[in-house]
Amino acid sequence: MVILQTPKQFQQYRRTIPHGQSVGFVPTMGALHAGHAELLKRSAAENQVTILSIFVNPKQFGPREDFQKYPRPFEADLDIAEACGVSAVFSPSVADFYPDSFSTYVEENALSKPLCGAFRPGHFRGVTTVVLKLFNVVRPNRAYFGLKDAQQFFVIKKMVEDLNLDLEIKGVPTVRENDGVALSSRNRYLSSEERERAPMIFKTLTRARDQILSGADPAKVCCEQIAVLEQNGFRVQYFEYWPQGRVLAAAAYLGITRLIDNVLIETTKQTRVSEASPESTI
Ligand code: PAJ
Repeated sequence: MVILQTPKQFQQYRRTIPHGQSVGFVPTMGALHAGHAELLKRSAAENQVTILSIFVNPKQFGPREDFQKYPRPFEADLDIAEACGVSAVFSPSVADFYPDSFSTYVEENALSKPLCGAFRPGHFRGVTTVVLKLFNVVRPNRAYFGLKDAQQFFVIKKMVEDLNLDLEIKGVPTVRENDGVALSSRNRYLSSEERERAPMIFKTLTRARDQILSGADPAKVCCEQIAVLEQNGFRVQYFEYWPQGRVLAAAAYLGITRLIDNVLIETTKQTRVSEASPESTI
């Protein structure tokens, strides 16, 4: 496994990959866990070469967010990368990736507006800008994103479509702990007492999904589950059905830690299945 630090170094390495070999790419901010590992393994299974980028992107953090204290366990990340079959790691410095003269941004203006977009102004502009830069350096055939960040996944897919980028975007289901908590680099900020309460987000989301699928009014159901979370000390930013992604999505603070999660709601498909009489499947 090789480690390349500047875009120039990486581009030189990229030219050594034979044309016929497919390149899978997993962009991350490091502090790798089993969720990231799942993306890497998918890429390694589907491509001859897998590239991992580790870059804590300052442009997607707000001024009062956790850019400075974001965990950076680089050596442990390299061990995970190696074990997952990564061929090369690209980890530029902020100064190399964003020289002082940097002045070009890319912005998606529809899917990025609600949910996290409403609470983190400039966040998705930072994400699309860095991901497009990474795509241009890495030139992957396929790039892998987690559905844990469902809105990010759809915003990136839209950017790829709108800008005619010649690569495939793959979505990977959310990897969870046994108690339902979605793995996240930020979970390490939780105190042990907060960690015990953290499963409530997934629990309220699945409860709300089940009620909606049995015909309850989505707005009422979401209100009820927001109240449950608030009673348990969460500060909820949003908890709502997002039709563009067909997900029920939530973001809430537990202490100082902002957690997000979502569950898929395939209303039409599931309604059809439950409405089908046993005879109709024979
Ligand atoms: P990061 O939070 O490091 O996540 C990197 C990738 O891992 C994302 O596609 C994310 O959705 C995925 N991921 C995180 N937790 C997951 C889980 N529990 N199950 C499955 N996939 C999971 O997302 C970013 O970095 C950045 O915004 C980035 C795209 C790298 C741009 O800076």
